[in-house]
Amino acid sequence: MAAMEKLMGWIDDRFPLTATYKAHLSEYYAPKNFNFWYFFGSLALLVLVLQIVTGIFLTMNYKPDSELAFASVEYIMRDVDWGWLIRYMHSTGASMFFVVVYLHMFRGLMYGSYRKPRELIWIFGVLIYLALMAEAFLGYLLPWGQMSFWGAQVIVNLFAAVPFIGDDLSIWIRGDYVISDATLNRFFAFHVIALPLVLLALVAVHLVALHEVGSNNPDGVEIKKNKDPKTGIPLDGIPFHPYYTVKDIVGVIVFLMVFSAIVFFGPEMGGYFLEANNFIPADPLKTPPHIAPLWYFTPFYAILRAVPPMFGSQFPGVVAMGLSIVLLFFLPWLDRGKVKSIRYRGPIYKAFLAAFIVSFVGLGYLGLLPSTPVATIFAQVFSVIYFLFFLLMPWYTSIDKTKPEPERVTG
Ligand code: HEM
Repeated sequence: MAAMEKLMGWIDDRFPLTATYKAHLSEYYAPKNFNFWYFFGSLALLVLVLQIVTGIFLTMNYKPDSELAFASVEYIMRDVDWGWLIRYMHSTGASMFFVVVYLHMFRGLMYGSYRKPRELIWIFGVLIYLALMAEAFLGYLLPWGQMSFWGAQVIVNLFAAVPFIGDDLSIWIRGDYVISDATLNRFFAFHVIALPLVLLALVAVHLVALHEVGSNNPDGVEIKKNKDPKTGIPLDGIPFHPYYTVKDIVGVIVFLMVFSAIVFFGPEMGGYFLEANNFIPADPLKTPPHIAPLWYFTPFYAILRAVPPMFGSQFPGVVAMGLSIVLLFFLPWLDRGKVKSIRYRGPIYKAFLAAFIVSFVGLGYLGLLPSTPVATIFAQVFSVIYFLFFLLMPWYTSIDKTKPEPERVTG
């Protein structure tokens, strides 16, 4: 033991190991009332690690070459030892990443976690979300199946709708006049190294900002307002370690049960996690009858299709789609409510949030379907509700009848 203490002393004289451990774990105080919704941050971290580790192993056998890519994935699935497991963990991980991140964001909306002083945590979060979407889109081209090819075709063509520079822009993105080997090579480079670095850096600053101000909680009460006068420790805080490390392990175990059930019993998830058309090699001469992105992009795809083209250009739809994500950045300043948590909000905010969630899920469903006149009308109604949630927020949050926020956290 003495030897251990000596070693720690030696390290601490050269590197702040014990100080960091205390500042961020054993003496980092988190609100004592975290509930189910607070599992998803640590689960997002877990999935990030899973994706990086399985991705490294996939890269060992994957070939980023339009002639070889599809077959190399089949090789991984059939011949590489445990290759099927690694691949299914990665493809399932991609969808589960979005499940976890959507629930994580919804928690933020419910408890007002984006409000002062956590604006930067939220902004870094939205940047993470954008990087994650780019990462998923780029990765989807790699198996070089029909959906990889035609999905990328549809999305890159959206850039072609930008006035004046669109054509040049889409050629610049593809590195060619069509989606080709050059496109596959650059998507591979971005997917395996550039965007993972961006994601890791963003997650690091997300957590630095979080530990600077401390977590919000289901009551939306700032625990730093009530400190023990002697110790300076928040009265409603408990040390992150061991209390929340242990609690988070419970979340991890339940998550891994769900994750394994999907990986082992239904990795395609009825076509929602892996589409049937992507088991057919890419064929530039044969457009699939129905092209839809994977489920996590469909709400935005539905917004894109809901906006009618102007002068034959899809640009207005592209702008609406971009705006639907950009608005998230402004949330901290759009919300004028007196309280943070849904527990103390009035009926108007609750109604708007419910309508927003119904619209988002509805758009996600409609984005999966081929577009029909009736589906388009629904998508237009849901899109309007989606935007009104943000645009009317300064108004309805300020007139809403809120309940008084308690002094201390409850329960
Ligand atoms: C790779 C993706 C992400 C990772 C690894 C991650 C990680 C975390 C962790 C570990 C926490 C603390 C635990 C918790 O509160 O659940 C947290 C809190 C938070 N995250 Fe994320 N996050 C990610 C994405 C996002 C996104 C996309 C948003 C929003 C757009 C976001 C917004 C927030 C907010 C507002 C908090 C503070 C919540 C509170 O204190 O109530 N995060 N994040």
